Amino acid sequence: MKTLAIETSCDDTSVAIVSFDGEIFRTDKMFAYSQVSDHQKYGWVVPEIASRLHSDKIISVLHHINFDEIPEVDTISVTTHPWLPGSLVVGKAAATFLSAYFDKPLIHVNHIHGHIFSLFLERKISDFRFPMVVLTASGGHNDIYLVTSDELLVTSKKESPIWKFKITKLWQTLDDAAGECFDKVARMLWWSYPWWPRIADKASKWKSNPAVTFKRIFLSKESFDFSFSGMKSQVFFLLKEFEKSWKIKRLKDWKLKIPERLICDIAYEFQEAVVEVLVKKLIRAGIHCNAQTFAIAGGVSCNERLREYLNEYGKKELKSYHPTSSASLIWHPHFLKPVKKVYSTDNGAMIWVAGMIQ
Ligand code: KG4
Ligand code: ZN
Repeated sequence: MKTLAIETSCDDTSVAIVSFDGEIFRTDKMFAYSQVSDHQKYGWVVPEIASRLHSDKIISVLHHINFDEIPEVDTISVTTHPWLPGSLVVGKAAATFLSAYFDKPLIHVNHIHGHIFSLFLERKISDFRFPMVVLTASGGHNDIYLVTSDELLVTSKKESPIWKFKITKLWQTLDDAAGECFDKVARMLWWSYPWWPRIADKASKWKSNPAVTFKRIFLSKESFDFSFSGMKSQVFFLLKEFEKSWKIKRLKDWKLKIPERLICDIAYEFQEAVVEVLVKKLIRAGIHCNAQTFAIAGGVSCNERLREYLNEYGKKELKSYHPTSSASLIWHPHFLKPVKKVYSTDNGAMIWVAGMIQ
């Protein structure tokens, strides 16, 4: 089974052809035009520019994956919600036209479900264990989903098996998403967009500094919801304090001249504070739901420290939760993240998987 998938929800015009052989979802072709350099001078994605660029680029991106293959696909999937309306409409218009012209069924896909199903790319579907809790952490959303699979409907003859999944959103952020918080703190440190490789780099140069500590915001013990707006405020007020006490100068363009040492300490402590809350809540939520698989997806799941912390803390915590050897024999939870980092951020391939099995 083959599908063409189109994703234009934010600043990537991404198109993929993915195939499923009954066991593994494989990306045959994927091509994306990234608008990062177009938005760089504005410091973040400008929605109007994003939608105009999608309409300028969509045809050439489709050419990259080879137009001649479109008549051979079985379905066409496209992201229709949520995210930037002006960007989404371009992908939807292109997919609607192709579906009508080539007479292929059109499948509308929820972007966040796409992130959840990015976990299935290049993995054997039969290896998955359910129930699965998934933390989807990106620039615009930060939720915990429960994915269950009760039935496996194997259809007759040549048709592929169809899995039926139930996806339930259980908890979410009450204010900012983790990715949004990373983005805004990066701006406070006067880093230009795209900043993401820098936080880990600076954090690795950290030296223990008792003057730079951030409170981990858990809300309450019983709550699995998130809140990250206070994290931004903590960084903001710490910088204000240092500006006064260290007499940090402002440059001509009003940028704060923050000492390198302080930048490294803030980057480290901020990353630790966000990662710790994300992982601990995911693990607690999974225990609450008796999950067999604990997974992270979305742009923030590119973060190396988050990936590492999930494995380390997850294994330790679940061992102490099931301390007896007999119990641990029956509970071997899996910790998953998308197989490649390109599947963590917005991409066309994940939209196909979601379109097929949601
Ligand atoms: O999923 P995505 O590509 O787009 C949305 O659906 O939002 O995620 C983008 C978000 C951005 O907010 C960015 O700050 C975050 O993912 N991100 C990261 C890293 N790479 C991307 N956050 C932390 N560490 C990273 N390495
Ligand atoms: Zn996304």
